[in-house]
Amino acid sequence: MILTRMLRQIFSRKPNGTDIARNSPVANAGRKDVAAILPRLTSPEPDRIFNFFSLIFWNTSNPQSVTAAAKEIIQHAEGGHHFADNFLTWSRNMSMLDDQPFVSAWRSNAESTSDEAIIWRRYILACAAYHCVQLEGDFVECGAYTGVGIKTVVDYLGGTAFPRTFWGYDIFEHDPSMVNHLMPEHGSSLYQRVKEKFSAYPQVKLIRGLIPQVFEGNCPDQIAYMHIDLNQAPAEIAALDCLFDRMVPGAILILDDYEWSGIYRPQKLAEDEWFESRKYRVMPLPTGQGLIIKR
Ligand SMILES: C[S@@+](CC[C@H](N)C(=O)[O-])C[C@H]1O[C@@H](n2cnc3c(N)ncnc32)[C@H](O)[C@@H]1O
Repeated sequence: MILTRMLRQIFSRKPNGTDIARNSPVANAGRKDVAAILPRLTSPEPDRIFNFFSLIFWNTSNPQSVTAAAKEIIQHAEGGHHFADNFLTWSRNMSMLDDQPFVSAWRSNAESTSDEAIIWRRYILACAAYHCVQLEGDFVECGAYTGVGIKTVVDYLGGTAFPRTFWGYDIFEHDPSMVNHLMPEHGSSLYQRVKEKFSAYPQVKLIRGLIPQVFEGNCPDQIAYMHIDLNQAPAEIAALDCLFDRMVPGAILILDDYEWSGIYRPQKLAEDEWFESRKYRVMPLPTGQGLIIKR
């Protein structure tokens, strides 16, 4: 009898030792909050397939020729095409454009043509977040920048009723000694502007400072969703060192630049080594992102 009770106690503990208390009023209330905000998938029209074409892509010596060539290919290809963000494909369902709650979150938050062009990357985040919001644990973005990535996800999942704490870390400025490159919105007023953007969202905690030092006393115990997007290897590895063990089983990690070559390749090289020693393999996505599911 005593042994049975002890075993039950051991197996009803979460990995970090907190009691699960599955049927407690608090846990049930939390589950109801989550169920209430999950967007319903819009039924696609069987005969309508969307296309997406944007002039925003990078790293070519002759953008005009690349655009003309892409247009030429698309003319001879079946519908369901996507051309943007260095990614041409066709005969795809283009699911993101069928998902109306996502389309409105993406449209209402995009502030630049680049934000619009990375629609497929945003949909990967939104779908990962849909899964992760049903786990116990907070959301984290390392590299919050203008907050567009965070707000697209939060607005897809209930907006101001988003039921998790979302930690967004960034220095919001740039100095030439940093390994990552300067971005157009970096500057002394960016932090305040992004804070104002989330004034109606108390669950979004913007933490200003340098990663990894900024994590000291300022990070969640349990993480269900993490997006690392720092454009540089040393800080991304430092973020993994500090936060990966806090991810709960089933949590999803998206590495924004993992599958991008060129100036981003050092990130993949460092991350492969980091994950290899822990027996994880990063799933390279055609969007340029990398995806890991925490065990
Ligand atoms: C590509 S932007 C992030 C874009 C954002 N995740 C989105 O989806 O819209 C990269 C950000 O990482 C930040 N960053 C890079 N290294 C950092 C560090 N060591 N500490 C804090 N922020 C850093 C930069 O300031 C920059 O704003």
